[in-house]
Amino acid sequence: MIKYEVKYDNVTVLDHPLLQHKITRLRDKTTGTNEFRSLVEEIAMLMGFEALRDLPTELIDVETPIEKCQSPVIAGRKLAVVPILRAGLGMVNGILALTPTAKVGHIGLYRDEVTHEPHEYYCKLPSPIEQRTIVVTDPMLATGGSAVAAVDFIKQHGGKKIKFLCIIAAPEGIERFHKAHPDVQLYCGCVDRQLNENAYICPGLGDAGDRIFGTK
Ligand code: PRP
Ligand code: URA
Repeated sequence: MIKYEVKYDNVTVLDHPLLQHKITRLRDKTTGTNEFRSLVEEIAMLMGFEALRDLPTELIDVETPIEKCQSPVIAGRKLAVVPILRAGLGMVNGILALTPTAKVGHIGLYRDEVTHEPHEYYCKLPSPIEQRTIVVTDPMLATGGSAVAAVDFIKQHGGKKIKFLCIIAAPEGIERFHKAHPDVQLYCGCVDRQLNENAYICPGLGDAGDRIFGTK
């Protein structure tokens, strides 16, 4: 695999070996639905752990068996996870395992098979959204059309602090996303070579939604 050189401040490629190992299992076409689902959830948790390292904390008083001290906890409960349907749903529980009190919104988009442009069919965000850190999930960033449309929608509804988590990205998708939303942090598990003529990521993992839900 060619190593992708990150050019933008808002793009992070998380190249931890444990993550890479799990992504390789996802790519394998013999990996069945059950294992695929578990892997997507585990990968989301590992990615979320890194992406949320700047969450604000505050000190509280606590008494250990030895003495009293001040120790940090996450400040406030202002997080939202917003999966892009369908495939982004597979990542939600991984993030909720880290932040169980987060609210969950949904953005329903599907790609037109011919134009590859996204079409919106359902959107609901937690309200109010302005103060929340919003973690958008979608395993695949291909042309970037769906990711850009989802973040457009969130911003139109007042979302400001947005992080986007994808497991596999194409360079074309990163370019488009950065151009549209240079203020949004994009975290990728890995960056693949290119898109093919059907706008699928090569080598990729195929259709993420179909593999998570066992459709097709
Ligand atoms: C897939 C994927 C992304 C989108 C990526 O969803 O989960 O949402 O394609 O492609 P893009 O970067 O070119 O927009 P799809 O539209 O196939 O819907 P699904 O999750 O319901 O299968
Ligand atoms: N959507 C997918 O599920 N896979 C791709 O490779 C591209 C878009």
